[in-house]
Amino acid sequence: VLSLAVIGAGRIGAVHAASVAAHPGAELRLVADPVGSSAETLAAQHGARATTRVEDVLEADDVDAVIICSPTPLHVDQIIASVAAGKAVLCEKPVDLSLERVDRCLAAVAGQEHRVMMGFNRRFDPSVAEIHARVRSGEIGALEQLTIISRDPAAPPASYVAQSGGIFRDMTIHDLDMVTHFLGDVVEVSAVGQQLDADIAATGDFDAAVVTLTTASGAVATIINSRHCATGYDQRLEAFGPLGSLQLTNPTATHVRHFGATRAEATGPHLDFFLERYAADYRAELDHFVASVVAGTAPVPGLADGRAALVLADAATRSARTGERVRVDAAAVATH
Ligand SMILES: NC(=O)c1ccc[n+]([C@@H]2O[C@H](COP(=O)([O-])OP(=O)(O)OC[C@H]3O[C@@H](n4cnc5c(N)ncnc54)[C@H](O)[C@@H]3O)[C@@H](O)[C@H]2O)c1
Repeated sequence: VLSLAVIGAGRIGAVHAASVAAHPGAELRLVADPVGSSAETLAAQHGARATTRVEDVLEADDVDAVIICSPTPLHVDQIIASVAAGKAVLCEKPVDLSLERVDRCLAAVAGQEHRVMMGFNRRFDPSVAEIHARVRSGEIGALEQLTIISRDPAAPPASYVAQSGGIFRDMTIHDLDMVTHFLGDVVEVSAVGQQLDADIAATGDFDAAVVTLTTASGAVATIINSRHCATGYDQRLEAFGPLGSLQLTNPTATHVRHFGATRAEATGPHLDFFLERYAADYRAELDHFVASVVAGTAPVPGLADGRAALVLADAATRSARTGERVRVDAAAVATH
């Protein structure tokens, strides 16, 4: 049984703590958060110890691996310290908002990169994983177009947006990871940002965007994002090739459909947000992490994938600000 600690007992920390507690091959030993009440509440839910000091996690002999769920600016230092303490790491996305700091992290853990996994949960979504496997099997022929629609139900507060690194590094980063996962040979990025929300515009950021990514093979990926969506969490994906397409649609909480004189196929709304829509992903992601650590193999996605997504996010940010099409170093993005 792998012994784990959760660092950061916020929204996503609670999700991971619950997944660890439910995993037959894992045990939650420790929860660390400088806000003592947060650490204690989460730890108590799962029979773990609580601490306000991350150092206690690093020094704990009975902790083999950590899940870093702290705010993004803390990830790099906590990855480096955890690896140095001999712990395996599952770190929430993104690695950092600065490529320079990501590179510092890679240099600091050189030789130990295989001990770090990045929490790009969508790769582990059962439907995404199925589409990925079926594309790889050749079912629709060589991928020609990948289209991702990713809209949040409602925008976070402008105060969050102001320190988020911008929509491309904060939100699009999940979709950019999907593109590297499916295509991986991106050579050019073009992006258009929209400012439809006055509060977000006041921070200088965009609240919606369309990104086009061209690959060396000629396939093109399109990402469509919005910080708001009246129909709920809108998460769709289409892989299109010469033999057909594979489409991921939005699930609803019920399989029941109402048919009447004024409408057909009516059902409940889309699932509200990531905790509901992607609940299965977080469990599958943890399962891959635990299996990799136990087997001593490198989990995927790793730090290089975290870097690749940030390279693309930086390129999209530049393109949206300047109107340029931005070339990217294919070697930096092709991680596998
Ligand atoms: N993969 C996903 O679907 C997903 C979803 C949400 C958030 N995230 C990522 O997870 C991270 C956390 O986001 P969140 O929404 O849970 O934030 P949050 O604000 O809800 O939680 C962060 C927690 O970290 C704690 N913290 C602050 N300083 C700390 C320190 N030095 N050491 C340990 N903990 C500390 C805070 O007290 C808080 O409890 C971010 O990097 C975010 O990008 C990923």
